[in-house]
Amino acid sequence: MNVPSQPRPTAGRAEQLHSERVLVLDFGSQFAQLIARRVRDENVYCEIVRHDISAETIVARKPSAIILSGGPSSVYEEGAPRCDPKLFTLGIPILGICYGMQLTAHCLGGTVKPCPAREFGRARLQISNLEKLFAGFPTEIDVWMSHGDQVHLFPEGFEVIAGTATCPIAAVKHHELPIYGLQFHPEVSHTALGGTLIHNFLYNIAGCEGKWHLSNFAQQTIEHFREVIGKDRVICGLSGGVDSSVTAALLYKAIGPQLTCILIDNGLLRKDEQSAVITEFTDHFKADLRVVDASERFLSSLAGVRDPQEKRRRIGRDFIECFKAEAVKINGAKYLAQGTLYPDVIESGAAPDGPAATIKLHHNVGGLPEQLGFDLVEPLRDLFKDEVRRLGIELGLPEHLVWRHPFPGPGLAVRCLGEVTKAKLDVLREADEIVINEIKNADLYRSTSQAFVVLMESQSVGVMGDARTYENAVAVRCVNTDDFMTADWSRLPYDLLARISTRIINEVRGVNRVCYDISSKPPATIEWE
Ligand code: XMP
Repeated sequence: MNVPSQPRPTAGRAEQLHSERVLVLDFGSQFAQLIARRVRDENVYCEIVRHDISAETIVARKPSAIILSGGPSSVYEEGAPRCDPKLFTLGIPILGICYGMQLTAHCLGGTVKPCPAREFGRARLQISNLEKLFAGFPTEIDVWMSHGDQVHLFPEGFEVIAGTATCPIAAVKHHELPIYGLQFHPEVSHTALGGTLIHNFLYNIAGCEGKWHLSNFAQQTIEHFREVIGKDRVICGLSGGVDSSVTAALLYKAIGPQLTCILIDNGLLRKDEQSAVITEFTDHFKADLRVVDASERFLSSLAGVRDPQEKRRRIGRDFIECFKAEAVKINGAKYLAQGTLYPDVIESGAAPDGPAATIKLHHNVGGLPEQLGFDLVEPLRDLFKDEVRRLGIELGLPEHLVWRHPFPGPGLAVRCLGEVTKAKLDVLREADEIVINEIKNADLYRSTSQAFVVLMESQSVGVMGDARTYENAVAVRCVNTDDFMTADWSRLPYDLLARISTRIINEVRGVNRVCYDISSKPPATIEWE
């Protein structure tokens, strides 16, 4: 379902912080975010924007370079995503990757044809020009390909600088203009020296200076929000996770006692989560904390609701109503601070000029009600998860808090498939605790990224003692990922899986079957709803 978010009053973005930026035009690639992260790894700020952004808008954003992402389409297909052809006349360095390279050829008068067979996987690249883009490279490397079309002929002015046995035009450069194309994907880890290639494009071709550093970002963000917020009050929803904790830490440094943190117990938290968050908070923060028990309110709004997006919407609305009620108690707050991250913004289709696809309504982005009643403060809106963790460490938060597995805003509601009831949530809480404890005991908590249990809607036949049972099946989900945009299921040791299964079936009433989720993202998502 695609529900666009509305523009809202926000103090969340400090545009001037990014004096050097690269724009990635997204043509529907599953790797667009990965490209952006690779660019940031090179200390250059990077944003993902719509493929059809106008040349004028691009110029106004003053990018140091433009990267055209890959994508699933064929340039000749009707409705295939295009870019503004004026882009190629701006003199801004351009790197076209896969579809981005084919589109470059197509726009400039070259030809693109289907490959004899779709090429997917490793290929051996022979490099014929070791200047600038391939500076410091050996003459042969392994690269990763994923394409059905390839460039057959580049227009005059271009030189082929690398090729493979099946794809003779695998890398090109223009003789005079700063335009480059790659048929393979430098952003994926299977491409040897992919990071160096991106580094070379940024520094040798686009003249970047590497101005994006988290320590500067923290300081500038603190100063920016101190100025924007002035003497107003801010409330910050706290979940105990790294995003909201880092948001609170940044804002506390910016505005001190004008910040009130609010922990809403919505009845959808993990076992003993409320007391854990209170302990953690009082140990590490000086800011004012208020705890609101709103579980009845949330559970009654969710009664009878089965649709995942509707669950998110109702939870988003109830959160805001609770924040409003708390704001009244502190004599009003102008701002609501949230730990929204860049992937949330992109996946909700809420970024200015960002790609439009909505995968889920993250409750703190797309799931917010129209009439918010607050201006939003979202200091992490430009950051990826791994950057937030690094920032947390810079701000002095303890390692165990910074490395907590994420927990979604809508909580256990999106792990309780179908209708949410207190009885089902209690089953989930017990099973979830077993999984997390066992993973911690096996010393795998830090090397896995997120682990949890999903209560399925199906019941299954079992036998316990000598009696037939007909009870719930649960799925254990454990994934490894850097950025939560793509993820692979964790290869947990069989013995650990066996312990988890035995303990859940023996200790959690109402569960007689445990499955292990072996789907990667994409095509699955991490959460089930
Ligand atoms: P998915 O399921 O989209 O999850 O692959 C990616 C990451 O985001 C978390 N997630 C959410 N977080 N509100 C949140 O605050 C949400 O609505 C939401 N949905 C998913 C998920 O737990 C994972 O870490």
